[in-house]
Amino acid sequence: MKEIIEVKLKTRKADFITCKTDLLAAGLFSDAKGLDKLNAELDQKLGGAIERLIKLGDFKGKEGTTAIVYGNDSIGAKRILLVGLGEKKKATLDTVRNAAANAAKKAVEIKAETLSLALHRAFDGKCDLAATGRVMAEGTYLGSYRYDEFVTQRENGRLGSLGVEIIDSDAGKIKKIDKGLQCGGIIGRAQSYARTLANRPANVINPEKLAAEAKRIAKAVKGLTCTVFDEKQMAEKGMGGILAVGSGSKSPPRFIVLQYNGAGKSKPTIALVGKAITFDSGGISIKPASKMDEMKLDKSGGIAVLGTMRAVAELKLPVNVIGIIPSAENLPSGTSYRPGDIISTFSGKTVEILNTDAEGRMILCDGIAYAVKQKCDTIIDIATLTGACKVALGSYMAGLMGSDEKLIKQIQKAAEESGEKVWPLPSGDEYAEEMKSKIADLKNTGSRWGGACTAAAFLRQFAGETKWAHLDIAGMDMFERATEYLAEGSSGFGVRLLTTYLMNIAR
Ligand code: BES
Ligand code: MN
Ligand code: ZN
Repeated sequence: MKEIIEVKLKTRKADFITCKTDLLAAGLFSDAKGLDKLNAELDQKLGGAIERLIKLGDFKGKEGTTAIVYGNDSIGAKRILLVGLGEKKKATLDTVRNAAANAAKKAVEIKAETLSLALHRAFDGKCDLAATGRVMAEGTYLGSYRYDEFVTQRENGRLGSLGVEIIDSDAGKIKKIDKGLQCGGIIGRAQSYARTLANRPANVINPEKLAAEAKRIAKAVKGLTCTVFDEKQMAEKGMGGILAVGSGSKSPPRFIVLQYNGAGKSKPTIALVGKAITFDSGGISIKPASKMDEMKLDKSGGIAVLGTMRAVAELKLPVNVIGIIPSAENLPSGTSYRPGDIISTFSGKTVEILNTDAEGRMILCDGIAYAVKQKCDTIIDIATLTGACKVALGSYMAGLMGSDEKLIKQIQKAAEESGEKVWPLPSGDEYAEEMKSKIADLKNTGSRWGGACTAAAFLRQFAGETKWAHLDIAGMDMFERATEYLAEGSSGFGVRLLTTYLMNIAR
């Protein structure tokens, strides 16, 4: 799959003053007393243009803000982009990532061919150089991304690629930054890949097409393999949950399994299970029309797994991972599953359907039970599972539930490092109690309250004794509005989080 805007990343040993580039990005803290050495030197060559701009109050270094200063014959850059970093004591690696994203977004907007980043300078001594290189690379992917593959008449046009380089005059520093840059580039590219797949609408991507894409990427990336079960094979295996959800659509469901063995056969395997509903109309329990279009993003969890598998294989991490992506389209029709139906799932457990719109758990329960059957050591599922989670946490963090304290801590650590935030929520016995049915083993909805927790408590029962964690990303799958550094649409949430978790495990 072609990148929408190709990002060409590299590091280069170059001097800030003479560096030839379309756009040179330098960071500034809001509480800095005067310009630092780099900016002061530049300012001198520019005859004090930066100082004047700051004195006028046009740029205060606030996070998310930028200002452009034009170059002259004394410097190599055509333009300087001042990027606000906020307060110095609050700055983290996330600040650098966002600053790089901000710069990349501006670079695409002004149609710059080359963007030279000197953002790490402001963080000298504060952050590890390799880590800084990594987040700058991730940030440039995040910020340069936009989804316009179906726009045929573009008003202002844009370039098809963006050359990004991190520059420093110190070769030793460049070497360290470059290590992180390679890794961040792989993660960033995988995340943009996930965003494009998720952004594609349901008439373009259905479960079969998603399965074909998984097979294609597995073939293209060394170490990755892919098996797909069609509806006949699922029926033979008794995967009643995913079959029920997929029964209303002309596009049949697919059960996608990706495998990556980087640690050797004797080592444990981690299962990632992602919900991939290519469109969620609610089924017979149909949703209201308003914002139903957003339900094309109900495949985001599954696609986060696909993107993570790609990144992990490209990074050649010494871990064993199996990516399980049950995929179906939830539509109402004469062949749909109905409220009242009793479904036998892959685990053997039966489920009474009370609401066909609680379909995510019906495909995930087969995915989780499949992971248990493969004797996986750990299971992490990721899903746009409940509106209740979005009500509880908004669009700032994903809900995190689980049965293993250590696993939860590891995911929280990965969240901090990746900038994809999580918040713990319960899923214990009280919630499981609500999911008991009188006429089957379980029912697929609980009471009105605590919907994110009861959904998780439902899933938990399919993991059995296996260590399990659950990420409810219902509020995180998309950016509703474009921001200073992000385009609206799919966020690709989960690719950075899960890849970081696996990188930490590998260490
Ligand atoms: N895909 C939705 C959850 C969702 C809602 C994701 C908003 C993103 C934004 C899920 O399949 C769903 O419909 N859940 C129901 C469950 C209910 C019927 C128990 C919900 O949250 O209303
Ligand atoms: Mn639903
Ligand atoms: Zn759904």
